[in-house]
Amino acid sequence: MSYINENYLKLEDSYLFSTIAKKVAKYQEENPYKKIIKLGIGDVTRPIVPSVVNAMQKACIEMGNKETFKGYGPEQGYDFLREKIVEFDYKKRKIQIDKDEIFVSDGAKCDTGNIVEIFDAANTVAITDPVYPVYLDTNIMAGRKNIVYLPLTEENNFVPQIPKEKVDIIYLCLPNNPTGTVLKKEELKVWVDYAKQNNSIILFDSAYESFITEEDVPHSIYEIDGAKDVAIEFRSFSKTAGFTGIRCAYAVVPKTLKGYTKNGKQVSINALWNRRQCTKFNGVAYITQKGAEAIYSNEGQKEIKENIKYYLENAKIIREGLQNSGFTVYGGKNAPYIWLKVPKGHTSWSFFDDLLEKAGVVGTPGAGFGKCGEGYFRLTAFGDRENTIEAIQRIELASRQ
Ligand code: MLT
Repeated sequence: MSYINENYLKLEDSYLFSTIAKKVAKYQEENPYKKIIKLGIGDVTRPIVPSVVNAMQKACIEMGNKETFKGYGPEQGYDFLREKIVEFDYKKRKIQIDKDEIFVSDGAKCDTGNIVEIFDAANTVAITDPVYPVYLDTNIMAGRKNIVYLPLTEENNFVPQIPKEKVDIIYLCLPNNPTGTVLKKEELKVWVDYAKQNNSIILFDSAYESFITEEDVPHSIYEIDGAKDVAIEFRSFSKTAGFTGIRCAYAVVPKTLKGYTKNGKQVSINALWNRRQCTKFNGVAYITQKGAEAIYSNEGQKEIKENIKYYLENAKIIREGLQNSGFTVYGGKNAPYIWLKVPKGHTSWSFFDDLLEKAGVVGTPGAGFGKCGEGYFRLTAFGDRENTIEAIQRIELASRQ
């Protein structure tokens, strides 16, 4: 008899974005001539920038040459990329991170999912509601029962509040997916202080940090004093440089970060994560890492910033267009996501169906991100400009019907 991990049976039947993709595919099959505009999953539409393409082409040639061919690379990532990350993403912001605190990976989705396994299942985990579904699903898969939800509501401006219960692990995604909210330094410091007082660890997902436009919003949790003792940071090239199809990201696991055994012994989280990666991961492709390195060149920086500007302009078009049509709208200023309230009489999913039917526009129902997401709907700014403008016009027309 082969027994399964029954925790999987506690999950929703299908992952949120797969459910939506299936629904949309079915609708398209039934309505083959209808042009559907997809602003659901946060997938980029701008092509890979020339600096990255050139670097990857060169790396490809190297791989075909006996003298420069590479086999297995370091599980933690090549030094050439880790050094650039240290220099550009941290030193420039006056944050001291060592190269061996950087772990290059194939995605923040994988990292935030995989990290669960180095922590005991008995930990109490705090997760915002609504939340990026990966955090919740991977904890359920691991059999974690103690989950505390931190509601993100209009009343608290979608800012997570310290819970009454003591929590051991805290997931924070900032800029937030799905609400688009950001925290000011003082607001984030509250969480760092909490983690210090309670020996908790913050899992800080800053996959959307390159969309921050306001000055006093931290790009890294390590901008807060003492955060290196309490936080792991996850970053991704997916949204920053259009790598959703290439796959490259990294986790920062400071050497000062400690966890505990049941009898109180301190253990280095960096060492545990390194152990996990060396055993289960053979590193990101050399060609991919060469592409990622190229975004740190002057030209690469210029090119990726153009794309981010483009998506932020889309966000503005969506935000303002919806506001003009009478919708209550959040986010979209420091994030590529717009979080809107569905019209009265609708649930998130009925609005999804209605919008698909009347406007041919796909978004993501807020309820898919958690109970508190009910009554809300997420649109992404990652579409192309023409489609984004058309989608907003269609939503406006549909809302008058
Ligand atoms: C989203 O739409 O929330 C993201 O694209 C999901 C992801 O990055 O995995």
